[in-house]
Amino acid sequence: MTRPARSPFRPADVAATRRPVDEARQLPARAFLDPAVFAWEQEAWFARDWLCVGRASDLAEPGRYILAEVAGERLILVRDRAGALGAFHNVCRHRGATLLEAATGRLPRIQCPYHAWTYGLDGRLSRAPHTERLRDFDLADAGLVPVRCATWQGFIFVSLDPAGPPLTEALADLPAHLAHLDLAGLRRVRSLDYDVAADWKAVAQNYSECLHCPGVHPQLNRITPYDVGANFVSHGSWAGGYMCLAGGFETLAVDGLRHGRPPLRGWSAADAGRAYYLVVWPNLFLSVLPDYAMIHQVWPRAAGQSLVHCEWLFPPEAVARADFDPAGVIDFWDLTNRQDWHVCELVQEGMSSRAYVPGRYTLMEDMVHAFDLMLADRYAADGVTTRFAPRRDRWAPARSRARRG
Ligand code: FES
Ligand SMILES: [Fe+2]
Repeated sequence: MTRPARSPFRPADVAATRRPVDEARQLPARAFLDPAVFAWEQEAWFARDWLCVGRASDLAEPGRYILAEVAGERLILVRDRAGALGAFHNVCRHRGATLLEAATGRLPRIQCPYHAWTYGLDGRLSRAPHTERLRDFDLADAGLVPVRCATWQGFIFVSLDPAGPPLTEALADLPAHLAHLDLAGLRRVRSLDYDVAADWKAVAQNYSECLHCPGVHPQLNRITPYDVGANFVSHGSWAGGYMCLAGGFETLAVDGLRHGRPPLRGWSAADAGRAYYLVVWPNLFLSVLPDYAMIHQVWPRAAGQSLVHCEWLFPPEAVARADFDPAGVIDFWDLTNRQDWHVCELVQEGMSSRAYVPGRYTLMEDMVHAFDLMLADRYAADGVTTRFAPRRDRWAPARSRARRG
């Protein structure tokens, strides 16, 4: 794979961000505004790094497939007859036609709609009419172009870089934090897409702090006060921590109650009263709540434009209950999401002002800084990974009304 063009930032451009959080400055506004930065990120990050594109449960049986698009590449993810998960470019090896158009389905084989070249579910070319007498042509050399794919906790990740590190290396110690939970068994009950007029990085930064919660999300802040929780020391390309439910609340929902819904499988005494919020580089936000999980995937559309895909996942035993009703959860987060997108758009708008110069981080924004360090180190491309340590002095003492696990 060719190396991406030179980074649009020199190490000096992001040096102020790579300082300790109490000295650091935010990233140059150009990172959020410049189409050249967007194009470089697509090539250097989204066309290389591991990206979550779906759930293995969507590919439960052989022949079941979903389509995905990363960095402008259209992909097929499919379960083959042997039960293995595969990912391929959605491009015919004959004259390049897109093979599959429906976003999801189940097929016995993959057949090109143009001249009927036919591929097995494992990508092998099995039939190519009128090629039998060609010289130097072997069906075995003309299978679908594979893409690396791997799963973790039921999430399917792909990487367009055939020579990059494995997913396990990218996730590093994140799986250990959630190993006691069975997220793979969760069922999607709802998904929503949002067009947001803000750069994907501004959306990630917003997810990484709750300093805005008292003003922007009074409903959320009532259930998990913005200054009660802790952040993890992370190794690898992720950052996150947890917040604590105030007394009398059981989960994140309109009324803060579970209404008899069981906790996640494996939810332990140490997890009690917590809500985990994790950013998995670059664009997956994983929220693990007492009785369900929620994901946000932020897909950059252009500099300053994003599509946010949000899903809610519940344990099958909760979904099976006659009284199962996730509306209180969905409505709560749909409101919270819209509140978030509004402030993200305000930030995007303000950063385009001639008056804007990158501001300072407050000590309630150390996880924003953690995310920005992932960006800054990659922009600098000097081989240096800036050490990050979450602040331990920023949190209010646990309040009597807050339960801690
Ligand atoms: S382009 Fe696919 S068979 Fe011709
Ligand atoms: Fe928010």
